[in-house]
Amino acid sequence: MHAYEKATKSWVSHGEADTAALAAYFANLAQPGTVVALDGDLGAGKTKFSQGFAAALGVKGVVNSPTFTLIKEYEGRLPLYHMDVYRISQDEAEDLGLDEYFEGQGVSLVEWASIIPDLLPEERLNLHIEHTGGEGRTIHCKGVGTPYVQWIAELPEPPQITNEAGAAQGESKKDGEL
Ligand SMILES: Nc1ncnc2c1ncn2[C@@H]1O[C@H](COP(=O)(O)OP(=O)(O)OP(=O)(O)O)[C@@H](O)[C@H]1O
Ligand SMILES: [Mg+2]
Repeated sequence: MHAYEKATKSWVSHGEADTAALAAYFANLAQPGTVVALDGDLGAGKTKFSQGFAAALGVKGVVNSPTFTLIKEYEGRLPLYHMDVYRISQDEAEDLGLDEYFEGQGVSLVEWASIIPDLLPEERLNLHIEHTGGEGRTIHCKGVGTPYVQWIAELPEPPQITNEAGAAQGESKKDGEL
């Protein structure tokens, strides 16, 4: 197995706006074949992140959770493939032909990606959203391979872009494993 370069950083979110700011950062860097693996507990903010990502990608209209449809496609600056594999197993997901999406001309966002570890490309952006109380979230970001390592390297350190309340502050946990 190829040993891909890795980089990690944490993003401190004090509310939806901070999560959307991170989503916009990555959406602006996205290119054909970008794969973003999203994990975190129920209600962590995976779909909120996806909505912010879609908006920054120029998707018009409503982006809902694809929990029941598994995959929804949208058109923005690039096609967006929004997936949610919560309700299926890795075995079941094998038949979905996800490679077609991952290797396609669009950007793939996968909620609950850790359910299908063997089906994901090794080079990807992993985001794990952790509840830290109330509206607080720490979003652990890990880039594996090109260009994701660079995206993490250039991600602003906390204190970051602040939300309207100017509340974003926090500590960076650069070397933490996800
Ligand atoms: N800092 C924050 N970032 C994102 N969402 C937040 C934040 N603070 C509060 N929220 C709220 O948390 C909820 C996140 O819901 P969301 O549907 O995005 O979660 P999810 O991780 O997709 O859950 P599920 O696994 O059920 O699909 C929303 O109601 C949102 O308003
Ligand atoms: Mg969701």
